[in-house]
Amino acid sequence: MCGIVGATGRPDVAELLVEGLERLEYRGYDSAGIVLAVEGALWRTRAADGTRSVAALRELVGSAPGPAVTGIGHTRWATHGAPSVENAHPLYDCFGRVAVVHNGIIENHAEIQSSLERSGHAMVSATDTEVIAHLVEDKMATGLPLAEAVRHALLVVRGSFAVAVVSVEEPELLVAARRNTPLVLGRSDGASLLASDIPALLGRTEQLFVLADDQVAELRPGSIRVTSLAGAELDPPALSVDWDLAAAQKGGFEDFMSKEMREQPRAVADTLLDRWTPDGSLTLDELCMTEDELAQLTRVYLVACGSSYHAGLVAKFAIEQWAAIPAEVEIASEFRYRNPVLDPKALAVGVSQSGESLDTLLALREARARGARVLGVTNVVDSSIAREADAVLYTRAGPEICVAATKTLLAQIVALELLALTLAQVRKTRSASEIAAAVDALTRLPAGIDEVLARAKEVDQVAESLAGASDFFYLGRNLGYPVALEGALKLKELSYLHAEGYPAGELKHGPIALIEPGTVVVGIATRNPLWEKFQSNVQEVRSRGATVVLVANDGDEAAAALADHVLWVPESDPLLAPVLDIVPLQLFAYRLARLRNLDVDRPRNLAKTVTVE
Ligand code: M6R
Repeated sequence: MCGIVGATGRPDVAELLVEGLERLEYRGYDSAGIVLAVEGALWRTRAADGTRSVAALRELVGSAPGPAVTGIGHTRWATHGAPSVENAHPLYDCFGRVAVVHNGIIENHAEIQSSLERSGHAMVSATDTEVIAHLVEDKMATGLPLAEAVRHALLVVRGSFAVAVVSVEEPELLVAARRNTPLVLGRSDGASLLASDIPALLGRTEQLFVLADDQVAELRPGSIRVTSLAGAELDPPALSVDWDLAAAQKGGFEDFMSKEMREQPRAVADTLLDRWTPDGSLTLDELCMTEDELAQLTRVYLVACGSSYHAGLVAKFAIEQWAAIPAEVEIASEFRYRNPVLDPKALAVGVSQSGESLDTLLALREARARGARVLGVTNVVDSSIAREADAVLYTRAGPEICVAATKTLLAQIVALELLALTLAQVRKTRSASEIAAAVDALTRLPAGIDEVLARAKEVDQVAESLAGASDFFYLGRNLGYPVALEGALKLKELSYLHAEGYPAGELKHGPIALIEPGTVVVGIATRNPLWEKFQSNVQEVRSRGATVVLVANDGDEAAAALADHVLWVPESDPLLAPVLDIVPLQLFAYRLARLRNLDVDRPRNLAKTVTVE
């Protein structure tokens, strides 16, 4: 996820771009850059200074060689290519006469790049974006004006994009387009503006328009023309917005947690993007291991903390069932101190949203020292774990600001499921058609998450009816167990209520002594191989007076008959079900915390990134 901004027709364009990027910084800050059309040339400045990138850019723009009225800017959250100045946007064509900023992923960039290189283009970055600048260059070389050239270039690309393009040939023109990635346009007296979202434009213009998928906008000072990618004239409706700036940075949501939960379908879809061929076979080149090496693995260790550990617990089922390799899930802070026995046929997978959790980092270092191959699964490009690992499988959830993990957890689970399927493919433990069916089921998850999110009001009602409770047991079996752990963790950290996650079959060995009238039992009752046994466990707590809330599949009357309240979710393959089942538990914990007037984004005693042992 990156932020883009553009303006034409404003004498203060450089200041406006930098200020826009400051407002969009939450979308990423691996690097920042702008291009201005100045005196018949493009002038570019870029900085890659971690969290200081936009601040460093502000210091650089003062050296622009003259006044400009047109420019584009970008703040980057790296996906393809390390966070460096060379990979910072805006990116140029061969001659520095076309500049592009982009948010999204060009899925077929490798293919386009090879073809451009064969016709003499030289790429200077490791990004997927640069091909757009060169495609536009090619089209303009045939005599097309900038807007037409952009349109033709975008007909060639696959994937997601919000782009803005400028060229020295038409210095007052900005051309923008989008597909599956937001882009907002603004018009005011004598100026036209664009940005990834509304906050960057607030206070600059009252007339806002949202560009829709496959639409192209031509922005000139004070005028905007919108067409379809095919060239048909369109008339987008104006938007009326009454956000204040603080609310807008949260995209109109009350807090980052709500926004990030809402972003989960996209986080999962982006993490899946571009990772298999059209026939459904997996292409995880990122693993940097030959098929032979993957086939010879004898054991997988999933090492992580907190929610990332729960993602590992889900992955254990997938790796063992699909790929038939023994998988161990290890609490990172324990793993390195127990003298683990490892060898080169062991794969240690460090799962960490931030890529900076010291416990996980040190555990992976230990695994490597003991001979294992090390894979990082992280959301942050060039994080410490990404740099230390032999290979990295990135989740693509975008920056997560709320301390409680939501969208990054779901993205981790699907990334690990892709790893499990890849192992199954290489080891031939599943047929091609079984793998294609699993891939198909994965692609249906974003729509399923959307459906669950749309039921938030029903979850709120259940939470409100339990607002007085102080003890919660989350129970699950099989794939329901990691979901129970995650539900309990979310409730603890957000609402400070006492919550235990437990394997339901274990309850009778002691903890059932704690169940009494008033205890709330939240059970994960979606269909899995232990569903019938789980029903008996629910009967055991009911008969001791617990109030029972069940997460159950739509229409499951047997579950409804056992429960005081049901949180409904669509049915999916049991190995993928945790991705849907976790969502109502996030909503439930969120609502209970809000009912207690707590700051959901910054719970007490916690830090988003834990860099101490
Ligand atoms: O960045 P990491 O994934 O390594 O972080 C691990 C845990 O600190 C993290 O999941 C923590 O438990 C969250 N606050 C859970 O919501």
